[in-house]
Amino acid sequence: MISITVFPLCENFVSKRPTTLFSLVLLRVHIIFNCYTLLYFIKSILSCILIKFIKMNVRLQFIVNSMKTIFKNYCTPSELYAKKIKDLTVISTNHLTPEIKLYLITEQCKLWHSPADQCEFDDPFWAFYWPGGQAISRFILDNRQYVNNKKVLDVGSGSAACALASAIAGASQVTANDIDPVACVAAKLNAQLNNICIDVLPKNILSDDCSQWDVIIVGDMFYSKDIAELLWKWLNTLHNHGKIVLIGDPGRHCFKPECQLTKLAEYKLTENCCLENRGFSTSSVWKLN
Ligand SMILES: C[S@@+](CC[C@H](N)C(=O)[O-])C[C@H]1O[C@@H](n2cnc3c(N)ncnc32)[C@H](O)[C@@H]1O
Repeated sequence: MISITVFPLCENFVSKRPTTLFSLVLLRVHIIFNCYTLLYFIKSILSCILIKFIKMNVRLQFIVNSMKTIFKNYCTPSELYAKKIKDLTVISTNHLTPEIKLYLITEQCKLWHSPADQCEFDDPFWAFYWPGGQAISRFILDNRQYVNNKKVLDVGSGSAACALASAIAGASQVTANDIDPVACVAAKLNAQLNNICIDVLPKNILSDDCSQWDVIIVGDMFYSKDIAELLWKWLNTLHNHGKIVLIGDPGRHCFKPECQLTKLAEYKLTENCCLENRGFSTSSVWKLN
């Protein structure tokens, strides 16, 4: 900038009238003027850059704020299920094991009175404490030797009540297993509610050898012909491999024992449970021999 505009002008000027005071003053004025022009130019560029930077920053701030809002409102599927479970159920102890609190759908819940197609969950089995599960949990709590210091698997755990009963009864490790992801969230919530630590396994293990467990608990799983067939075969194999297999069932028509069983106990169901399970008033606990 200086070499192009200032010096050529100065040289011309000095060569014409080198000694006069006037020319010197003019030269200074010219130089000062050029310096001011240069400074003004630099200042304009800098303010331009600054304005651009501020605008960019404002836009960046806007993007950052939008992202923050999006992530603040974002929930994982498990968090969403947990919120719905808490919103749509009540904490109940109105069953055969009142020492265990469970998030259940009862007569006080809106869902209880809504048609099935308006239910927010598909088949919320976890929201009921089934007669078979109630009997087996009561039995375990009153006969702790069956699970004490043992590793216990609660298959088709639903609310995980049987798993929680096993933990209370002194099992060294307890796993609640269910193929329904919502049931697995309910199991964790119920465990938290009772300050109990259990593992939750959300997958189908009906053909596994279950080598890591000593006791297999099956609460009210004989509700369909297909699953009953699968279960009898699998439970028989597990029993032959030395596992203790306990089954709770109120007498469902698919519970036609295909293995040797011993009846360990029979319980009268609570009034609300009889109402929920029309046709059943008792539930029994069986052990595979
Ligand atoms: C009738 S509920 C019983 C729940 C609980 N045991 C009780 O007694 O309250 C049956 C449960 O078995 C689960 N289930 C069905 N098939 C399964 C499978 N192959 N593996 C694990 N769980 C299964 C269902 O999702 C449901 O939660």
